Parts: sequence; structure tokens; C-alpha cells
Amino acid sequence: MPKAEPWRTVSLTDDCTKLRLVDQTRLPNELVWLEISELEEVWQAIKTLAVRGAPAIGVAAAAGLALAARRIMAPDFPEFYQKFCRAKAYLAGARPTAVNLSWALNRMKQAALQNKQRSMPEIKAALIAEANVIRDEDIACCRAIGEAGLPLLENCQSVLTHCNAGQLAAVQYGTALAPIYLAQERGHSLHVFADETRPLLQGARLTAWELQQAGLACTLLCDNMVATVLAQGRVDAVIVGADRIAANGDVANKIGTSGLAVLARHFKVPFYVAAPTSTVDLDCRNGKNIVIEERAPEEVAELWYQQRMAPPGVDIFNPAFDVTPAELVSAIITERGLVYPPFAENLAALK
Ligand code: MRU
Repeated sequence: MPKAEPWRTVSLTDDCTKLRLVDQTRLPNELVWLEISELEEVWQAIKTLAVRGAPAIGVAAAAGLALAARRIMAPDFPEFYQKFCRAKAYLAGARPTAVNLSWALNRMKQAALQNKQRSMPEIKAALIAEANVIRDEDIACCRAIGEAGLPLLENCQSVLTHCNAGQLAAVQYGTALAPIYLAQERGHSLHVFADETRPLLQGARLTAWELQQAGLACTLLCDNMVATVLAQGRVDAVIVGADRIAANGDVANKIGTSGLAVLARHFKVPFYVAAPTSTVDLDCRNGKNIVIEERAPEEVAELWYQQRMAPPGVDIFNPAFDVTPAELVSAIITERGLVYPPFAENLAALK
């Protein structure tokens, strides 16, 4: 990101009347900012991946719910709360896998309940304030993830990442890219290999763009080229983000992550997962309990092509995420420090 003017991927506007976000469907060709305030617009932005990445989705949903709450007309708290919960459930249904969405919405629910004795305008103001706190905490959290991950990269020259877990996936810094940005701030610029990340190309469209903006060297790879660069010894570490980490350390992240973890283990390259503790879901025992979003077949067959590239009628499977078994993860980098195996024990101690 341009250093002179750090900007936020997603935030309420200064007057707190709109949610302002980078439209990630338009990158890398156009940097377009969306300003939205209707609940349906926020749902749509999350669903279509205009805003995406687990932390950014959480921040956007919290802000969207605060704006929706402001418009609720109700004579008393019970009626307000009923309408508020309906809006909350609607937003929670936009995408199923990233736990940060329900985590942020539950924080908003707590804020509503904690303020229920106050006047309606005060409750609404408290919800706007909570959405801003969630945003500011995300910035601090991602920076702390960067600090925690720095020692792991000390002797590295190059890292490989999948999808986009950088600033665009959060408010600033990101998760997997945060240690890379902090290393750069301290004069150690790493070379980043970015997988293109089929089918939605978050690596090619977003990570490559974001790293270019930051002045970091980036080499873009098709997903099926990873084994080649690992075999050539050109990658010192793999770092990815997460959408949900189960209590046993299984990690749901962008489709393709688990294959990358298998390859990293084969080639003896450490495989790190960077995520805020809000992504750790201790209520979820293991990866089998994580709901994996399936998206439209057109994303595989048509999107990005001038003409359809699969025969009409062919069956298409398009899961958006996969689960990497805990045993393939070398360490989880959180804002509270590094977590090593055994993950079941060490994640429980962290929360
Ligand atoms: O479908 P997306 O683009 O929202 O998927 C994003 C990822 O899988 C990220 O790696 C994850 O959300 C972590 S972002 C810090």
C-alpha cells in the first residue's frame, strides 16, 4: 500500500453514514471505492466478494449492521432488538465459512444488549462506536500478527502465499502478508511467490496488485506450478491466512490451501497459518464440522474467459475453501503470539 497515506480497505465514512470499501471485483484494472448503506447492499458486497477475506468481511458486516440499526424505527428495546436480530441473521447468511462474520455480528449483538437500558439514539450511537472499535482492533491485531510472525522470517529470502490474506483481506496489513510488510518496514524485503488462486484469482488480481503497490517483489504462479518452485528450493516458507480454525488446529482456507500444505510437507518447507484469534472457533471440534461454501459453476467455466471454456452441461464442483489437517501446519501466527502443536491444547490456552 502507498506508505504516505495508509488507507483502510473497509471502514465507516468519517460522518458514519456510509460503509466505504474497495470494490475488489474491479481490481487490478480499476481502483473503485463503493459507498453503501442499505443492508441489502452490504449483503451483496459480501456475497459477490466486493469485500472479501475473513477479517474484512467481519468489519464490513459490523458496520453494515450498525447502519441498519440506525434506521430501525421501534418504540422500545424489545421491538428494536427483534428487528436488529433479523438484520443480523440476514447478514450472517451471506457466506458460511469465515467465522469472523458471525464473530463480528455477535460482538454487535453484545453491544446492543449491554446498552439496552439507554435511549434509542444512545443505543444506535453505541452500535456505530462498536463497529469502529472492531475496525480499529482489526488494524492493531493484524500489526501484532506481523510482529509475532517476524522471527519466523528472519532467515528467509522468499515466501509463497495463496489467495489474498493481505491488506485487502483486512483493514490494514492483512494476516499472512503482515509479517512481510513489517519486515519491509525494517529494511528486509522478501520476495513473494503468489499463486493465482483459481477460480476467482485472488492471488493474481489482488495479492500481486497489493504487493506491487507496496513496492515488494512478487512472482505470480499458476496454482499447478507450486510443486516446481518448491522442488527448485526457491521458497523458504509458505504463509497463508485462514477463514476458520477448528479447536484441533484444522484450518479452513481458500480452496487449494490443503494441496499446498501437502506439497510443503513433502519438500520440507515450513507451512505457517496467520490469523487473528477471532478466526479460532473452539466450538468447532475439527475440520469435518466446518461448512464449506460452494459457489456458482460459472465461476469455473465462464468467468474471466471471453467465451465459455467448458462444454455446456458438464458437471462442475466449485468449493470455495478446503480444510488443511492440523498435522500439516508448522505454526499458527496470532496477535497473541505463535502457537505450535499440539494445537488442541495450545489453542484452548490462547482464548
Ligand atoms: O473467498 P475469499 O476471497 O473471501 O477467501 C479468502 C481467504 O481464503 C483468505 O485466505 C482468508 O479469508 C484469510 S484473509 C486474512
